[in-house]
Amino acid sequence: MDHGTVAILHGAVPPDASADEQDTLVQVGTIAQALKRMGWRSTAVPITLDLAAMSRRLKQIDPVFVFNLVESVGGVGQHVHLAPNVLEALGIPFTGCGAVALMQTSNKPLAKRRMVENGIATPAWIEADGYAAGAPRGKFIVKSAWEDASIGLDGSAVVDGIAAARRRMAEMTARYGGSWFAESFIDGREFAVALIEDPDRPREPLPLPVAEMSFVDFPADKPRILDYASKWDKESFAYLNTPHVLDLPESDRPLIDQMIELSQRCWRLFDLRGYARVDLRVDRAGRPYVLEVNPNPCLSPDAGFAAMLERAGLGFEEGVERIIAACLGSTTASARRRTG
Ligand SMILES: Nc1ncnc2c1ncn2[C@@H]1O[C@H](COP(=O)(O)OP(=O)(O)OP(=O)(O)O)[C@@H](O)[C@H]1O
Ligand SMILES: [Mg+2]
Repeated sequence: MDHGTVAILHGAVPPDASADEQDTLVQVGTIAQALKRMGWRSTAVPITLDLAAMSRRLKQIDPVFVFNLVESVGGVGQHVHLAPNVLEALGIPFTGCGAVALMQTSNKPLAKRRMVENGIATPAWIEADGYAAGAPRGKFIVKSAWEDASIGLDGSAVVDGIAAARRRMAEMTARYGGSWFAESFIDGREFAVALIEDPDRPREPLPLPVAEMSFVDFPADKPRILDYASKWDKESFAYLNTPHVLDLPESDRPLIDQMIELSQRCWRLFDLRGYARVDLRVDRAGRPYVLEVNPNPCLSPDAGFAAMLERAGLGFEEGVERIIAACLGSTTASARRRTG
């Protein structure tokens, strides 16, 4: 069985890159193996800001489609939409979300403005230039506008009051560059809703089992957040004490349904394709807020998306097949077979 060649596109990773960047290579290996089992040949194509070189390489390979695993280019998350932009112009099909969706969701304040305009609850926030949305007060968390993977998030990212939030924004801009904003800290439960495109209804999302991020034995003075260590430092307290829970009690059903509905609205608002994950927090009054929308979420075997596919009874490979089917605009034979 030989379906043809797939180019697996990813940001080039220098040997001394940080753990979050190195993770891209794990995803490349995992997807290459899955493609092989499905009868595809694949070639990994690392990219830099030299997009002309990328185009030349792709023309040489002439792939049936591109599996897009680009999360950053040159270590900069703000460039995430560049490769899809070029692919769209070249007319090469690629997996996951389009360039505009990637750009709009990757800029968190921009995404939040669009959510607010469309009645989707997201925590109030202030931006570095003073723009404020909602009535933010109390505790804040200061986050990067463009970067994900909890870059710049540690215990000191959570601060009390607007003055401290402004100080932290200025400090982080001076230290890391880029743009930072402060969001009202939602002190409550955290969930992730993963969505995958429905093989029977193109462009429509189906939810996978919802996961709760649990914070086990956190000391009272340690903010309950998924900080950088919790994602990338495998020996840290935060990594070991933040397991996700997929078996949620029946009493959570109304909340889960509400969060799925919010996430599906985000999918439609941002015109997402293939697969996505929406991160939410629930306040003490039980109201869910969208923290962020992640198009093309991490496909590492140890990431939440893979666990949710297993829990849904689909398995990783069926998930990958659905992502490919969404990109090729048709249901592959096996996706059709398995969904009856
Ligand atoms: N407003 C908030 N209130 C409470 N906690 C928050 C808030 N915003 C972020 N957090 C915490 O920080 C974590 C990372 O934030 P967020 O998901 O916005 O950024 P990210 O770095 O893009 O994440 P990802 O790696 O999922 O792309 C969240 O999972 C949550 O634990
Ligand atoms: Mg997140």
